[in-house]
Formats: sequence, C-alpha cells, structure tokens
Amino acid sequence: MQVLSKLPAITDPNLLVGIEKGDDAAVYRLGDDVALVQTVDFFPPIVDDPYQFGGIAVANALSDVYAMGGKPLLALNIVGFPAQLSKDILVDILKGGYEKAAEADVLIVGGHTIEDPEPKYGLAVTGLIKPGDEITNSGSLPGDILVLTKPIGTGIITTALKQGRAEPEVAKQAIEVMLELNAGASRAMVETGVNSATDVTGFGLLGHLQSMMAASGTSAQIYESKVPMILGLLDTVELGTVPDGSKRNLSSLADSVKWDQSIPDTVRMILCDAQTSGGLLISVKKGRLDYLMDQLRSNGVSEPKVIGEVKNGSPGTIQVVQ
Ligand code: CO
Ligand code: CO
Ligand code: CO
Repeated sequence: MQVLSKLPAITDPNLLVGIEKGDDAAVYRLGDDVALVQTVDFFPPIVDDPYQFGGIAVANALSDVYAMGGKPLLALNIVGFPAQLSKDILVDILKGGYEKAAEADVLIVGGHTIEDPEPKYGLAVTGLIKPGDEITNSGSLPGDILVLTKPIGTGIITTALKQGRAEPEVAKQAIEVMLELNAGASRAMVETGVNSATDVTGFGLLGHLQSMMAASGTSAQIYESKVPMILGLLDTVELGTVPDGSKRNLSSLADSVKWDQSIPDTVRMILCDAQTSGGLLISVKKGRLDYLMDQLRSNGVSEPKVIGEVKNGSPGTIQVVQ
C-alpha cells in the first residue's frame, strides 16, 4: 500500500473497485450483467507436505474473490522453484493446487515458473460477479454485527510446526482450517446481502478489521472471549512461536486498538496473528444476522461466530473487551 500510493492513480469508469480502499480484489465491469474480479497471491511453503501446501496456497488465492462475493472461474499458476530440488516435489505442490481448484470448480489454465532459491506457489485468479453485487470493505454501518467464519491461530501454529514443537492434533486442525475454501461462506453472504466483508490473512483479524473500519468510516467493538480459536492455540502460544509478521501487526495497531486492561498479552498477540487462508470477516445488518447464520451453516460453515459489532466512533478504531 505504501508503495502503491507512490504510483499514478488509475481511474476508469468501468473500474468498480480499484486499489484505493485496500479491497481484496479489483472489479472491472464488462457490461451491465457481468464484471471481472481479479486478484493474485503466492507465498513460500508454510507446511512441510508439498501436496497440502499446494492446496492451502490455492484456497488462499481464491479467497480474495470469495471475499468480494465473486465466483472464481479461471486461474494461472505462479511458481518459484529451486533448480536443485526434486521435480517430484513440484508435481506434488501443483497436484495439491489442481485438486483444490477442482473442488472450487476453477480451471487452472496455465502459469509461469521461475528458478528461485526458495519455493513459492500461488495463483492469479479471474472471477465473475454481477456489477453492483460486489461486497467491498467500505460498506459497514454502525449497528452492524461482525461475524467470523473460521477460527484463528494459523500463524502461531504453523510457526510451531516449522520448529517441530506443534502438537500433531493442533497442527492437523490448523491445516484443515487453511485448506477449507471460503466458497460456502461467500455464497451465504451473497444470498443474505451483507454490508461489508474481507478475508482474514496476513494482517491478522484486527489488522483486517481495522482496514475495514477505516474504509467504512466506522469503529468496532470486539468481544475477545467470542473470537473462535483453533483448539490448542492457547497452549501453543505459550511456546512463544509467534511469527514476526504477527508481532509487527500488533505494534502497528497500537494507535488504533484500545485494549481492556484484563486482556493478557498472549491473547492480544493471537488477535493480531498473521493468518494464511483465514475465514471471512462479515459486517451484516443486525436484522439479517439470523438469516446469515442459517445460510452459513447450510453452506457448510461449521462454526460461524459473532465476534463484535460496528460502532459510531473514530474511524478505523477498535475497542477490544472481554
Ligand atoms: Co484478502
Ligand atoms: Co491477497
Ligand atoms: Co511464461
């Protein structure tokens, strides 16, 4: 964002969503009935298993289209791979990616690979949406209820995993969370009609919430005890396996977040933990909450949780209470 602000602004009457407000994907109108949704994401392995890494990278890349309420259609592989590593590993990464894309009814139609000392994988994704149906991060209104569709903690747990210190059952759950597509959650929010949404990734739950509140000109109150966490996360965070990105998130939010005194440092860290392939954070009108929760469950989201509400307050601020 700091870099992009140095480049000339792009304006085009058909560009319905650009980069100004930090939305998850761009939306470009092709005609009255159809617009393109464009996004890209790739990163180095966060789990040892190449097949699982491929699946997670694809679920994560598609998520930005889902967060806009769009339907991903086509994708291109983006691959970095070391010359000296066995190509079998790359085959497994791509296989994991293709199978996850197939689950999402997305066609991977090409891509590009470069030599890279560290493996990297992800997708450039093209999706479709009806113009006007796009769900941005700037539509939250005071009184809205905030819903989160997946538990958090994948940054802390995958760091423990890399250090060989994660409990196998905890690691397994984190991997399942990251592999889960946000497709059902997206269908549910489109069907409901919600005010705002984003997906929770590198800036952590509070980082992405802060962006949404700043873009919407609103403030938020979060109930820390209601935020869903991966089972075993509280024990894992005690190991101190906190990624640098999560620490940066916490310190960069110092001016925006007001913490209730009673909230321990470990929980503050968890709420800022950098996620991979996290859930959707949805801002919905109070009167539509029950309908949204029903829709989420019937679309396969097992544990959607109400985590707070949107307030009339200093834009982009968050109060965290117990
Ligand atoms: Co996103
Ligand atoms: Co992204
Ligand atoms: Co090429």
